[in-house]
Amino acid sequence: MFSSKKDTETERQLDMERIPAHIAIIMDGNGRWAQHRHLPRVAGHKQGMQTVKKVTMAASDLGVKVLSLYAFSTENWKRPATEVNYLMQLPIRFFATFVPDLVKHNVKVMVMGDITRLPEATQKAVKDAIKDTADCDGMILNFALNYGSRDEITRAVRSIADEVKEGQLDPSAITEQTISDHLMSAPLGKLADPDLLIRTSGEERISNFMLWQIGYSELEFVPEHWPDFDGETLKRAIIEFQGRHRRFGGLVNK
Ligand code: IPE
Ligand code: IPE
Ligand code: MG
Repeated sequence: MFSSKKDTETERQLDMERIPAHIAIIMDGNGRWAQHRHLPRVAGHKQGMQTVKKVTMAASDLGVKVLSLYAFSTENWKRPATEVNYLMQLPIRFFATFVPDLVKHNVKVMVMGDITRLPEATQKAVKDAIKDTADCDGMILNFALNYGSRDEITRAVRSIADEVKEGQLDPSAITEQTISDHLMSAPLGKLADPDLLIRTSGEERISNFMLWQIGYSELEFVPEHWPDFDGETLKRAIIEFQGRHRRFGGLVNK
């Protein structure tokens, strides 16, 4: 009763004409969610996978164009091997059960990050999901897997330097667009920069996520741990976004 009343109120406040095109989420708090329940940390990751499914469907239904999800950072290798191994298995389980739903909802899978360091079976699951959803032209579900923005920028600089060295590019011709074009988000084109970045679990930092792309994103830090996040919390975050005044350095609210 209570929650359905709350749902209707949320619907009323939500402006369906101003849904952020690109939402990026730092999915944090799985371990703490589990620890609060006296469960092993990996139980939080398992539950977090269900949240990914729910939030993907909710975002797609709302008309979001790109949903970028930070799933594994270049720094997460520092965790105990048992946890890293569990996290490496998750994409296999996730895509095995979820690809048919993604296809049904016309959702296309993309990945940012160096997946060549992932176990073979995980790489295969990711590549198959990309292939199986290649013809979908609805929302892009963009996973950051073994992704770190400093790594991304380092690789971009290296590749731009190579082009200069080969004589294909004049240093004076390097623009902001040249840099964007060499980042892992380049396939997203005009949609590469998130409009809204959400981090769950109350932590207020970026942890090496899309540093270049979030230059003018609206940032929201929400208290819920990722397994407790859902379509309703997503809608509330969008309502908050819709109340912000984006000026991009100018004076006019856009
Ligand atoms: C986010 O949850 C998932 C990953 C980083 C893979 P955490 O595992 O970071 O959970 P906390 O922050 O320790 O609670
Ligand atoms: C950021 O969360 C990475 C992902 C959500 C995949 P972390 O939990 O790894 O970040 P820190 O260590 O708290 O900054
Ligand atoms: Mg964390």
